[in-house]
Amino acid sequence: MIKARGLQRRFTSRGRTVDAVKGVDIDVTEGELVGFLGPNGAGKTTTLRMLTTLLTPTAGEAQVAGCDLRADPVGVRRRIGYVAQGGGTGPECKVAEEIELQGRLYGLGKADAIERGKELTEQLDLSGLDQRLTKTLSGGQRRRLDIALGLIHSPKLVFFDEPTTGLDPQSRANLWEHIRMLRSEQGVTLFLTTHYLEEADALCDRILVIDGGEIVAEGTPDALKARVSGDSVALGVDDDVTTRAAEIVGRVEGAHELTTAPGEVRFRVPRGDTALPALLRAFDAENLTMQSMQVQRPTLDDVFLTLTGRSLRDSSGSDSSGGDADAAAEASADDNERNEVPTRAA
Ligand SMILES: Nc1ncnc2c1ncn2[C@@H]1O[C@H](COP(=O)(O)OP(=O)(O)O)[C@@H](O)[C@H]1O
Ligand SMILES: [Mg+2]
Repeated sequence: MIKARGLQRRFTSRGRTVDAVKGVDIDVTEGELVGFLGPNGAGKTTTLRMLTTLLTPTAGEAQVAGCDLRADPVGVRRRIGYVAQGGGTGPECKVAEEIELQGRLYGLGKADAIERGKELTEQLDLSGLDQRLTKTLSGGQRRRLDIALGLIHSPKLVFFDEPTTGLDPQSRANLWEHIRMLRSEQGVTLFLTTHYLEEADALCDRILVIDGGEIVAEGTPDALKARVSGDSVALGVDDDVTTRAAEIVGRVEGAHELTTAPGEVRFRVPRGDTALPALLRAFDAENLTMQSMQVQRPTLDDVFLTLTGRSLRDSSGSDSSGGDADAAAEASADDNERNEVPTRAA
């Protein structure tokens, strides 16, 4: 569905050069749900805009939905759906009008557009909202409307840019269900960007991790986590026995990355669940009391930390900063950028 080789994008504005995307290869097969995970500014939106024909690559080639990105951009646009980061609904439009308009822009007749719109609003739990102005919808409803608009022409491949950024946890979980449904019931292939580890983990079959314009890792969530060596264990002890506790931990088979702070011993071990009973017995034998213990399976954040030396949680900032790079992208005059939104240009 997607085969990209060496995609690059350099921005030059006001004498400053930014290599936003430094030659990425992407393969997505039919029916997959693939996540593009990385901190803000990593190059996710830029890559997506190239794959959706909104931005001309500085270098590289791609086949998207069976069409060549450079030779047949119109063919690409006809076959894909794109749900942009901020969405694209007009605030003063009624939901039904917005959907019908979108359908007609894609060449559907009025009756077909209305019919397809009804189907989508039912699937996306938007029934009964037809006559509402889009600006009165909740964040989750508006996001689902964005999705309906992106799907009006029944594309087989859909791109989502940060589908749940800014949504509360409940609306986020609800939207995940809808995204899963697109795949399971409509056989849509999905490529989405996110800076949420939980989202990539919960939703995606496969994840590409991007950092600084380069793909730094790729695999299923489980395979990526398996690259981190073992569970992380934190033991709480009385301050004055920290050193003795650390000595005991040091004798545990496979224990590594041992660090201490007063009253705390941390380490990694291949299997935390089997290491702990033996450790408790060793503490008992030396008359030491363990005040608390915590075992954590590796998370995708551990993966990111291992790969880049930084925590994705720290580097991705808060929700509200999610659109900064995009705001910069919209504001800068770039002669290579095509101005149309692909969902309206087929
Ligand atoms: N039109 C543009 N002009 C100049 N720099 C840009 C433009 N668009 C994006 N960038 C820069 O490219 C980098 C990647 O941005 P982006 O692809 O939006 O990242 P992400 O979507 O992962 O947050 C950032 O440093 C951003 O500031
Ligand atoms: Mg972005």
